[in-house]
Amino acid sequence: MTNKLKYFIGNWKMFGDLASFKIISKINTYISKNNYINKKKIVICVPNILINFFVKKLKKKSISIGAQNCHHHEASGPFTGSVNASMLKKVGSEYIILGHSENRKEGESPKLIEKKIESSLNQKLNVIYCIGETSHEKKRGKTYSIIRKQIKECIKKSFNKKRIMIAYEPIWCIGSNKIPNINELKYIIKYIKISYKKIFKTKNFPKVLYGGSVNGKNVKLLSNVNEIDGFLIGSASQSSKKFIDIIKNYYK
Ligand code: 13P
Repeated sequence: MTNKLKYFIGNWKMFGDLASFKIISKINTYISKNNYINKKKIVICVPNILINFFVKKLKKKSISIGAQNCHHHEASGPFTGSVNASMLKKVGSEYIILGHSENRKEGESPKLIEKKIESSLNQKLNVIYCIGETSHEKKRGKTYSIIRKQIKECIKKSFNKKRIMIAYEPIWCIGSNKIPNINELKYIIKYIKISYKKIFKTKNFPKVLYGGSVNGKNVKLLSNVNEIDGFLIGSASQSSKKFIDIIKNYYK
């Protein structure tokens, strides 16, 4: 078992309503009662409409609440249906997921993602920047060049790196019940850390999460990759039992 701080971050995607607070509440109770796992950070990224309600209901703050995207424009303005980073911060969001492949697929460009990262950092939100290759790119041996390109094109040298972490989410692993080969994953996570440090000339390595079909069963295998600083968990975060199982089995 490692002593390093580990992140368990839920991405609820388009899921949840006010009654879903019971999921957060059960996770919170588990976390509060099991302080043997005190080297961990729990974040649940929920739909915008639930952020403030959940933040207010969470009395003892062992869980942070995050958002899943924002509009790139920093000030208020004529952008129907949009929410910016400042609005998310004001309602209690501490984290934000940006560059998720599901949003890239909807047409989000690298330039747009860069602007979103910049405006979120200006609001002192902690950014979880998602990268990862498609199965086609993987088959063509492009994994390393794609992830290097994704790191370079959306993060400016001037950004405050302390608030950025990378989530490596191979697209072919999302919602597919597949995870990468463990040795390969170890190389990729190391590659992300080393490339990032070289590109931005940072003193420290970035925190790198793994995301894609993480569950209570495969987390033990994933825990063998020491370089992973935590997990970005999709569907399993929509159930308190499945999310708690991931934490439990990780530390078993
Ligand atoms: P799943 O855990 O459902 O595969 O989703 C991963 C993900 O997209 C998290 O951002």
